Order: sequence, then C-alpha cells, then structure tokens
Amino acid sequence: MADQYAQSGEDSRPNEIPAIRWDEPPEGPVVVLLDQTRLPAEEVELVCTDAPALVEAIRSLAVRGAPLLGIAGAYGVALAAARGFDVDDAAESLAGARPTAVNLSVGVRRAQAAYRAELARSGDVEQAAAAALGAARALHKEDAEASSRMAERGLALLDELLPGGGHRILTHCNTGSLVSGGEGTAFAVALAAHRAGRLRRLWVDETRPLLQGARLTAYEAARSGMAYTLLTDNAAGSLFAAGEVDAVLIGADRIAADGSVANKVGSYPLAVLARYHHVPFIVVAPLTTVDPQTPDGASIEVEQRPGFEVTEVMAPQVPVAGAEPGGGIPVAPLGTQAYNPAFDVTPPELVTAIVTEEGAVSPVTTEALAELCARSRQVTQIL
Ligand code: MRU
Repeated sequence: MADQYAQSGEDSRPNEIPAIRWDEPPEGPVVVLLDQTRLPAEEVELVCTDAPALVEAIRSLAVRGAPLLGIAGAYGVALAAARGFDVDDAAESLAGARPTAVNLSVGVRRAQAAYRAELARSGDVEQAAAAALGAARALHKEDAEASSRMAERGLALLDELLPGGGHRILTHCNTGSLVSGGEGTAFAVALAAHRAGRLRRLWVDETRPLLQGARLTAYEAARSGMAYTLLTDNAAGSLFAAGEVDAVLIGADRIAADGSVANKVGSYPLAVLARYHHVPFIVVAPLTTVDPQTPDGASIEVEQRPGFEVTEVMAPQVPVAGAEPGGGIPVAPLGTQAYNPAFDVTPPELVTAIVTEEGAVSPVTTEALAELCARSRQVTQIL
C-alpha cells in the first residue's frame, strides 16, 4: 500500500528530501519516496508499505532513473522480508517492473541473495530480513560514493577535452540526485564543473514525452544555482549548428558488453548531432549499469510505454478529472496511435567516452569495457 504525506524533516542534505529512504515508524517498516510525478510543483513523499506499492511507484515513475531503481529494488526486497511477505515473489515482481534499466534487477538480486544466504546460514527469517536491509543500505551508500567519483572523473575528462573551460554542456533527461544515492551521474559532473567555476551553461533538453528534463533537471539545476537554459528536444539541432554546445553529457539505463548505450529516448539523435558537429558525447554511469550479459545494443529490451503519454499532456501537479485513458489533456485526435519507446540505443562508435566510478573508457570497445569491469571486480575482491 502507498500513502502520501507532505515533506518530513529527516534528510541527508539540508533542505532536501532524499529521493528514497527507509523508515521504521511504529506501524512497521516502510520505503519512503520523493514522488517525482509531482515535481517540480510539490515535494510530496510517497510511503510504500509493501512491494506491490513500490512496483506501482516504479511503473508510474514516482521513483525512476537507473541507479535509484536499483536502490529501490533492493529496499523493496528488504521491505517484503521485514513485513513477512514472500521474498522471492516480491523480488520477481520488482525486478520485472521495468525492463530496460539493468540496475533494477541488480539491486533486487543483491538483496535477495543476501536474504537467502542468511536464511540458509541461520535459518532465522528476522536475521535474513536484516541481511536484505543491510544489502540495500550498502548499495545505497556505494551508489553515493560512485556518484562522487564519477563527478571527479567526468570533470577531469571534460577539462582534458575542453581545455579552455567555460563549458557549455547539453544534457538529456534527468541524472541528478533524483536518480541516485548521491548527486547523480551526468548531472553530478555538470555540478562539479559548476562548483569549480567552469560551467558556463547547462542546456537542458525538456525530454518529451514525460518532461524529465523540464520538470526534474531544471528543478535540480535551479536548486543548485547553476546557469541553465531549457530547450525543446527538437531545438538541439539549431543549438549545435550555432556552435553553442561544447559537450553532451548523458546517463545510461543499460550499457551492453559492446558499449551500446540505452538511455532516455532522444539520446541517440543527440549522439548523431554531436558526431556531425565534432562535439564530445559522454556517457556517465556507474558500473552497476554495465551489463556484460547483454552482448549488444540489439539485445537490449526497450520499454514501450502507453500511447497516452504522447497523445496527451499532463501537468503533473494538476490531476485532470475523469478523462480516459491517461487523465491528461488530449493534444491529438481521439484514437491516434502513438509510438512511445522510453529509451533508444546509441552505438558505441558514437560515444566519445563512458565514465564510470572506476575509470573512463575511450574509445568505447568491448575489450576496454570488459577490462574495466574485470579491474573493478578485482578491487571488490581485495576489499
Ligand atoms: O524513464 P526514466 O525517467 O526512469 O529514465 C531514466 C533516465 O532518467 C535516463 O534515461 C537517465 O538518463 C539514465 S538514469 C541516470
């Protein structure tokens, strides 16, 4: 079950509601989300008391963005365990809630494995539930650490590629603290550039159809005091042509073994534009987004979303009464069919570099990516 209430006091950063938190009120454990469907108009928390509520929150994009989906999935398993539900059932439904962001299943499986291992060891369900929660908390913390290391590495790469400073960066979708245990992926790099006094402007694609750029990235950019400008996705071409973009920085939902990058639909056209205009196209993502089991871009399952997201517009803060099927304001004739893939896939040859917490690969090749993943496994084993 999900419940909503206004902003609570608890926070990891002052004046900011965390995108996700675990809470243990007297009524029992809950996963509390900042409801991203209500931003930027309202900062409202959504309280999930069971895995089905969390699955619904994932599907409706109340919680979203690849790294955060992983954290949410792990907490969801911990929630099912703590409340005495069937953990394997919960894990299945959570892992299948959205198909493209590999982090979701990575997070779910990690918490599930911790639960199973502890149950096998001690036979105690409470200890097993505590182990699942421990795994979720560890993932949350690791993601925050990965975020700051990506920011550092990403800024170093930007400075190397664009030695003049005064970076004008174009970004797509939303990749800040709303998708992360820390300050995000691509947005964290822009933020680091801003803090270092080297960001001239962040160009923010509005990101049709669900406006993650306009609603969420602009919200985060405004909060951090950076110079930013919003544009419609189809204005990007003329912006490149005018020489106003020094680099494109985006996140990723899944990176295949060959370096193909699935990210929010609209990323691939930016990569094509960037190549034509000789502008670096940089992907910033934690290693949890790299999926060695997916060999190439064609093997990535791209989520198809309902047509009403295209045929209607929805002001997130204003629920529209009564209208079927999406409840938004129709902008197309009734019955219009829509093509609405949530993601597209950019081939590795269009990606200048992939920046992870363990290092960057450039040029992007299967071998370089495999080597980076192997190196990080070795580091993890030593630790
Ligand atoms: O459909 P969403 O909003 O969950 O899309 C995910 C994204 O925000 C992006 O594709 C993002 O750039 C990768 S997640 C850091």
